[in-house]
Amino acid sequence: MSVTLSVAQLADIEAIDRCNRSVLPENYPRDFYEAFLQSPNSISLIVKPALEEEQEDERKAEEKTAAASDEIAGYILCMLQNDKKKAVVAHIYSIGVYPQFRRRGYASALLKTAEALLGEKRTDIKCISLHVRKKNKAARKFYAKLGFGRTKVVKKYYEKPREDAYLMKKPLKPQPSIEKKPTSNVQIKW
Ligand SMILES: CC(C)(COP(=O)(O)OP(=O)(O)OC[C@H]1O[C@@H](n2cnc3c(N)ncnc32)[C@H](O)[C@@H]1OP(=O)(O)O)[C@@H](O)C(=O)NCCC(=O)NCCS
Repeated sequence: MSVTLSVAQLADIEAIDRCNRSVLPENYPRDFYEAFLQSPNSISLIVKPALEEEQEDERKAEEKTAAASDEIAGYILCMLQNDKKKAVVAHIYSIGVYPQFRRRGYASALLKTAEALLGEKRTDIKCISLHVRKKNKAARKFYAKLGFGRTKVVKKYYEKPREDAYLMKKPLKPQPSIEKKPTSNVQIKW
């Protein structure tokens, strides 16, 4: 089976927004997405569902009439920023996978690929951080499996519903400074 991870384009905003609104209470206006996707400091990826060969043939036929297929299975939004000590950190703003596509490794592929692409942008990223609702056990287990640890509780971080967050972090090793070609599409097979 293979899935395609792609760097999100402005044309993907509606699909990302639909997925985000379907899986999380934290949503964003269109201008947020436009600024995010166009920032040189961001990595925004989408994953499209794996298609069996016969479905792939149907899709190719459909694409002759449609401008683009906007069906995604999930997305991730990451941004490079400075922490209080001015160190470079990457923050995951949002990650989501539609329920019917969960436990297939899609979110892991999104996060691992985002991490690799962030490493192509900067070799001095200290860590990847994120906030997660205390009650969001599935996401907490997911992040723990991917190497994130809880650092502190941020009281009343979330609204609607009001809830505390855990700040989770994964330290990154400094990368050797070699010039790499930026990647736009990544085929993942497993
Ligand atoms: C969290 C989320 C992104 C995980 O997506 P996913 O594609 O199912 O994740 P993966 O398939 O890559 O899971 C990798 C591992 O994470 C852990 N994990 C993922 N979902 C889990 C769950 N519901 N319960 C327990 N562990 C889970 C497992 O260890 C899993 O490995 P396994 O399937 O081999 O056991 C998805 O559940 C989601 O979109 N949730 C709603 C949005 C959300 O909470 N986003 C995070 C906000 S901070």
